[in-house]
Amino acid sequence: MIRYMLAACALKVFSINNATNSAYRWLGNVIGAQKRVKAGIPQFYLDRARKIIADTERFDAIKPGDRLLEIGTGWFHWESTILRLVHDVEVNLVDVWDNRQFPVFKEYFAVLDKTIEKEIPSLDGKINRVHEYLSKLQQTNSFDEAYQILGHKYFVNPKGTLDQFPDNHFNLIFSSSVLEHVTKEDVPAFMKDCYRVLKPGGLCIHLVDLGDHLTLYDKTMPYNKNYLRYSNSVWRSFFENKVQYFNRIQRSEWMKYFADAGFVVVEERPEPINISDVKISKDFAKFGKDDLECLTLNVVHRKP
Ligand SMILES: C[S@@+](CC[C@H](N)C(=O)[O-])C[C@H]1O[C@@H](n2cnc3c(N)ncnc32)[C@H](O)[C@@H]1O
Repeated sequence: MIRYMLAACALKVFSINNATNSAYRWLGNVIGAQKRVKAGIPQFYLDRARKIIADTERFDAIKPGDRLLEIGTGWFHWESTILRLVHDVEVNLVDVWDNRQFPVFKEYFAVLDKTIEKEIPSLDGKINRVHEYLSKLQQTNSFDEAYQILGHKYFVNPKGTLDQFPDNHFNLIFSSSVLEHVTKEDVPAFMKDCYRVLKPGGLCIHLVDLGDHLTLYDKTMPYNKNYLRYSNSVWRSFFENKVQYFNRIQRSEWMKYFADAGFVVVEERPEPINISDVKISKDFAKFGKDDLECLTLNVVHRKP
């Protein structure tokens, strides 16, 4: 808990102005890239790869030539590249800043080339094509070279909107561990933007991580929803920050934001945890067990 508190203080300091903000991002990227290359592909990324392959197959979400959008693509375009290995599609990647880490991208996909039969066994029929792409990626020395092979289009929009894309443009939109970072006040407009750029009949698949991201800085704490113990005012004063912002929006609130934007639910798959050791603040008392215990929300929606 001490490291949790110290991390909250340090993140507040890094949030003071643009210079401290940039310093945090620079440090995070340099240290983050080294750590990731050393640690190898985390298990949850492999789980996510299997999930996105299975979901897109189950819902028949991708046809050849489709246009895909990954929101908050981050360091190494994980789900996008996995899907591109399997399908002939145009992949568009958007983020609010350029936090790409080429050494991690290269390392992860090189490892995947050696382990993919074991890690994603469902690719049987497409495995030769997947290996061809993966071996070509190993010859590249920059994201630009990799994009020439994959056809990925990368966009940075610091406003965090989808203004650069026309209406009814994408067949599939997806994100992983991103929506929880959108500022709470911006979420309704962001959802409407997603709805606007998706084609009628198109799907969006989101994985929303509802956990307390500050616990990632304290290895003595489990990854859970510790933040539920803090009222909104305490959270804002002592814990909320700009550099590692997360919005504390709960499962039923997310479902309402999607519905209000016009989306129809296709599937909702919550992953629950036990929160019996967290004393719930009065500001979260209105939520039921289904909300409070939901750590990860996997949701699939359709634009009618
Ligand atoms: C936790 S990281 C996840 C990155 C990537 N999806 C992954 O799992 O490897 C969250 C990402 O979302 C991005 N992000 C936050 N708000 C965003 C917004 N409004 N639009 C697009 N990206 C956003 C951040 O810059 C960051 O790259």
